Amino acid sequence: MTETSMESMGVCIDIGTHKVVGMMANVRDNGTIEIKKMISKPSRGIKRGVITNIVPISNIVNDIIDEFEREFEVEVRSVSTSITGAHIRGRSNNGVVTISGERFTDKDHDRILLEAGKIKLDVGESVLHVLPQKYVIDGGQPVENAIGLSGVKFSLIAHLVTAATNEITNITNCITESGVEIDNIIYEGISSAISVLSEDEMQRGVTLIDIGAGVTDIVVYKGGVIIYHASIPLGGDDVTSDIAKVKRFSTQVAESIKIDYGTFVGFSSYDDIFTLPVITNQSESRTMSKRELSSIIEARYREILDFVRGKIEEADAYQMHDAGVVLTGGGSLVPGCVELVQEIMEKPCRIGMPMNTNFEDGKQLSPEYAAVVGLLASHKHDNIWQKELQKTMPSGNFFSNIYKKITGMCRNYF
Ligand SMILES: Nc1ncnc2c1ncn2[C@@H]1O[C@H](COP(=O)(O)OP(=O)(O)O)[C@@H](O)[C@H]1O
Ligand SMILES: [Mg+2]
Repeated sequence: MTETSMESMGVCIDIGTHKVVGMMANVRDNGTIEIKKMISKPSRGIKRGVITNIVPISNIVNDIIDEFEREFEVEVRSVSTSITGAHIRGRSNNGVVTISGERFTDKDHDRILLEAGKIKLDVGESVLHVLPQKYVIDGGQPVENAIGLSGVKFSLIAHLVTAATNEITNITNCITESGVEIDNIIYEGISSAISVLSEDEMQRGVTLIDIGAGVTDIVVYKGGVIIYHASIPLGGDDVTSDIAKVKRFSTQVAESIKIDYGTFVGFSSYDDIFTLPVITNQSESRTMSKRELSSIIEARYREILDFVRGKIEEADAYQMHDAGVVLTGGGSLVPGCVELVQEIMEKPCRIGMPMNTNFEDGKQLSPEYAAVVGLLASHKHDNIWQKELQKTMPSGNFFSNIYKKITGMCRNYF
């Protein structure tokens, strides 16, 4: 910590169905993320992306923050975190403002974002992000960025990401119980996209597919902006439970053979036999063919990917992605996944690894960490909507805040 300025340090926590990952990093001006420490712990109390039991998950978050504080002798004041689940929705809306000055300023931009976020919502739904798509000035041609341009009446066409208010509150409580504040709560599909997609892909048109344990997030970009996103409540856990059900294995055994031997039908044969992990109440060791395992895995992956394609076609976004598909998340790690996606989506596909990171002497981070790296990349971005959202959220446990203030008096802050 001595060689880096405190201001540029960030802590982010990605709360996934499979794991909770905390990352502490120095985000350089050129966008490089120098990871100081990463802590990954198995999740408890999360189902299909949403909190079903707040105590275990709050404890995990608290342990991660404590570990950072102890090791680096700092006081963590705020973190960014992620949200996903079938409650995430996309909407379109316009915002209009007139300006009094000669040019459209950052302050005018905040005003127009707030206007574009005013939309009639369902009960229990909140706006999470207001994402600009294009601006129209005095009825002229659409422009990409209005800041610095002159005119009187500015319109913004925006894509909105909404989430269930109670899910946002639950995540907020989970973090603020540890006595820290929230900088941003970012839709996980977006944070993964930020970490693995290039600007060029976002311009040309690309679909990001993040296959997590309980949720598959899809985000489609075209012209540098998000045109569609969806969260499907299916993921790697469904594959594991299919193996467990068909073969009558425990979830633990099914998960372990999926990770060690899992692939797709074209990559396996019946002659390829492996021995199952020893199960305590079973005397003989048992074997299974890789082809049999592959056929169970492939059936579920095909279902998930057919669903993804169907959603994108339904939204008229299928023709938009000239740069193809980028696959990320732990579920992308099954050998042969790229080929299967190419066959089903009929588009080129690559695996999305977190970019611009510097971790343990050049070690490449796995796609499982795409979302947490994306949180860091957007950690310090000022976002007027997030500030508005935080005002409506609970501010945390009074006693833990006071405790943190006292214990943190003679320590470093960030
Ligand atoms: N090598 C692997 N092969 C197959 N599946 C994997 C592999 N590694 C992780 N997974 C699966 O990926 C899922 C976890 O993905 P991850 O992105 O970490 O999830 P989450 O964000 O939901 O916590 C689990 O279902 C896990 O079984
Ligand atoms: Mg995830």
